[in-house]
Amino acid sequence: MALDPKRPQKEIKYEEMRIYSDEELRNYTEEELKNFKIKHDIPDLDELEKGPWPSFVADAKREALHRRKLAPDRMLIERDVVEDMLGQLQLSFDEGETHWKHGGIVGVFGYGGGVIGRYSDVPEKYPSIAHFHTIRVNQTGGKFYDTNFLKSLCDLWEYRGSGLLNMHGSTGDIIFLGTFTEQLEPIFFELTHELDQDLGGSGSNLRTPSECMGKSRCEWACIDTMDMSYELTNYYQDELHRPAFPYKFKFKFDGCPNGCVASIARADMSFIGTWRDDIRVDQEAVKAYIGGEIIPNGGAHKGRDWGKFDIQKEVIELCPTQCMWMEGGKLQ
Ligand code: HEM
Ligand code: HEM
Ligand code: SF4
Repeated sequence: MALDPKRPQKEIKYEEMRIYSDEELRNYTEEELKNFKIKHDIPDLDELEKGPWPSFVADAKREALHRRKLAPDRMLIERDVVEDMLGQLQLSFDEGETHWKHGGIVGVFGYGGGVIGRYSDVPEKYPSIAHFHTIRVNQTGGKFYDTNFLKSLCDLWEYRGSGLLNMHGSTGDIIFLGTFTEQLEPIFFELTHELDQDLGGSGSNLRTPSECMGKSRCEWACIDTMDMSYELTNYYQDELHRPAFPYKFKFKFDGCPNGCVASIARADMSFIGTWRDDIRVDQEAVKAYIGGEIIPNGGAHKGRDWGKFDIQKEVIELCPTQCMWMEGGKLQ
């Protein structure tokens, strides 16, 4: 079944949507970044920049510097929101407790989910994160985007939010991290009316369904994951936006048992494509592996002599159900 959009899709053009010029987007040098200090001392967070792995602290500092250098009228919440967020996190490390306040409900008109309220419990110290609400933006099917859309989204969030976002959260959404209550309705309006984009789920509603890209790119797909997710997202619109359950509920779709979106771990109701036909074995390829004409593991482990490929030891005996054996030179 082909994926039929329920209605025509709007084509987003960044040149029409953009808020910032190229100069504003690239407004600092790597040299300036090296010498940049945020307004708070954050010794423990600085530690988290060390080592070979990516660091959210390094990313946040870039964003902090970028906001320092934008003109004051080019952001609708405080420019130092990122700096205050890092400062408060250091305070939490120092005191061994969180400084995000418990409770507080915010949202947008007509929806009961999609926005998660966050407030600082030390706003006098960190006024720019007195509010730091999270917005969930429903990701596209299979997470296919074009740059026109992504750049437009980033500009909107820089202008009306902290500029910090997470691609993607564990529910699957794009997560916008940190804005003030006054910005929620304008962001919602721009997202839905200009960017043709919806909010995701939060709280006790149906959470944003998510799926692997399935047959659009993957040779293992046994079901059309994107179509199922799209269909159910549309069918359960009401449940997605208006929490009616006693607790959250999640659907996730894996196209095959490889489970690339971990539907078992992440969902209450997991959909996993399985093969429903006789098993097909490419006997020529089996022979070529045994004969050494095809390198085991696509050559991933070469550089050390592991000995000759042994199908009995390396494949057949590894199967917990013992479902395969060799017979007359053929894999059964
Ligand atoms: C830079 C700061 C933050 C980052 C990087 C971050 C990251 C995330 C991510 C990735 C998720 C999962 C989203 C999803 O499942 O789709 C999430 C959800 C959540 N975060 Fe945060 N977050 C931040 C700030 C906060 C703050 C300030 C609080 C508490 C005051 C908080 C509490 C939570 C809670 C309770 C959820 C689950 C909400 C729900 O399921 O309804 N986070 N966050
Ligand atoms: C005190 C213990 C725990 C707390 C406070 C906690 C809190 C959370 C929160 C706030 C989320 C985000 C929910 C959301 O995405 O909306 C989450 C997600 C998750 N947690 Fe926990 N958790 C706890 C224990 C566990 C344990 C023991 C497991 C696994 C054995 C687990 C597995 C997961 C998984 C897989 C997700 C991601 C769900 C998704 O994809 O949406 N958690 N947890
Ligand atoms: S779960 Fe299966 S079908 Fe989906 S991307 Fe992963 S390997 Fe491909």
